[in-house]
Amino acid sequence: MTDYETLCRQAEEIIRADSWYVPAMSNLSALLADTLPGLNWAGFYLLRGGQLTVGPFQGKPACIHIPAGKGVCGTSLAQDRVINVPDVHAFPGHIACDSASRSEIVLPLHRDGKPAAVLDIDSPVPERFTAADEEGLIKTAGIIERLISWEEPARE
Ligand code: SME
Repeated sequence: MTDYETLCRQAEEIIRADSWYVPAMSNLSALLADTLPGLNWAGFYLLRGGQLTVGPFQGKPACIHIPAGKGVCGTSLAQDRVINVPDVHAFPGHIACDSASRSEIVLPLHRDGKPAAVLDIDSPVPERFTAADEEGLIKTAGIIERLISWEEPARE
């Protein structure tokens, strides 16, 4: 079982070291992939021009664009809710970036109260994400959206 208390503390340390979403999400996806056993993809999709665009992640190359309302990620964004999918083959419209994926959890991340990104975690194991995982990841997502900076820092 994953120790989400430690994971949340580590996530907070990562973001406090540099809150810009590029380094923060890069290290957060590495932290998730390294901490949660049995994953094949962990990372972020960012809302850009009305659709989701792939952001920092760990795993195989993934779909670059996902329209709002499509797939698990786009549905989570459009409906502003956590979606825990025990069997991706049973989710209508699931987008298979990696045919090995069997279960998936997606959590919306908010900016100024509105969904601005999603955290997407995939597993080749059916029913990988338990209620305890869901609870722990909701806490993790809460830390991310509270501490992360969405603005591009000045170049000079
Ligand atoms: N399965 C997702 C697409 C993203 S990848 O799995 C990385 C979906 O249905 O939204």
